Amino acid sequence: MMRWRHTGGRSLFFLAAVIAGVHLQRNDRSVQPASQAQIYQPVLQPSEAVPPIGTYMLKNLVGKPCIKATVGAEFIVIEKKKTWYFNLDPSSVRTAGYCGREAAVLSLTLPDNAASLQFTFRKENNLFYVTNVTVHVSPRPVCQGCANKTYSGLLADQQLFAAAKGQSYYCKSENLLLTSPELRIKLVPLQMQAFTLPRGHYGEEVECWADFNHRVIPVIIGAIVTGVILIALLTSLFLKDRRREGYDRL
Ligand SMILES: *[C@@H]1O[C@H](CO)[C@@H](O)[C@H](O)[C@H]1NC(C)=O
Ligand SMILES: *[C@@H]1O[C@H](CO)[C@@H](O)[C@H](O)[C@H]1NC(C)=O
Repeated sequence: MMRWRHTGGRSLFFLAAVIAGVHLQRNDRSVQPASQAQIYQPVLQPSEAVPPIGTYMLKNLVGKPCIKATVGAEFIVIEKKKTWYFNLDPSSVRTAGYCGREAAVLSLTLPDNAASLQFTFRKENNLFYVTNVTVHVSPRPVCQGCANKTYSGLLADQQLFAAAKGQSYYCKSENLLLTSPELRIKLVPLQMQAFTLPRGHYGEEVECWADFNHRVIPVIIGAIVTGVILIALLTSLFLKDRRREGYDRL
């Protein structure tokens, strides 16, 4: 009897903890519906946080994957010289787009079209790359009673994130896209592949320049330092030898 009551108490405690947890989670949401209209409005944050990583896949009409992207996306809004941040929450994103032979589009959109991030891919010979990046965000105004505003940006006619057919572009370092004076997009990390995507799996990874530099520059500096030390050592040995020779001759 005592024992039963004990477990009963424990599960009650557990239930209370779960409810508290759910409550906390709800309070913690960075996106809250506005009071009456229940419109989804991203809440801009005054400081930066590491964006959560989402994997998004788009299939063509016959169900064959044509775009896959794994990305953490951060929106950076500049309003009156002050910088605000908003991370795209993968669990709220709706994936849409279009798979063509020469062009393909991946659209990541939040409910009520509160924010979107769209990549237009192009295929050229044996390469694919992102030619356009289109973004917008309609956040909750940063001051109370301020007007609602939509921040948007566009990068057009680019050759970003290129890789060969069947390979994936991969970058652990951040990519900062200056899409307009008021809106920047930070992508970290970023992996993408379009058009040729057998069974929806990424092909061989093509390392971005920034990652290559991060990997190789320390090695080069290490080699230079080792070289300088070696030269200094050999020179001092040589000089010592010469000096000894001089003494010997005396
Ligand atoms: C901004 O938009 C939200 C959601 O549509 C609305 O509830 C709010 O009244 C608007 N604020 C202003 C100042 O227009
Ligand atoms: C890229 O954007 C520009 C400007 O909006 C547009 O003219 C062009 O058609 C777009 N390219 C593609 C492939 O959609």
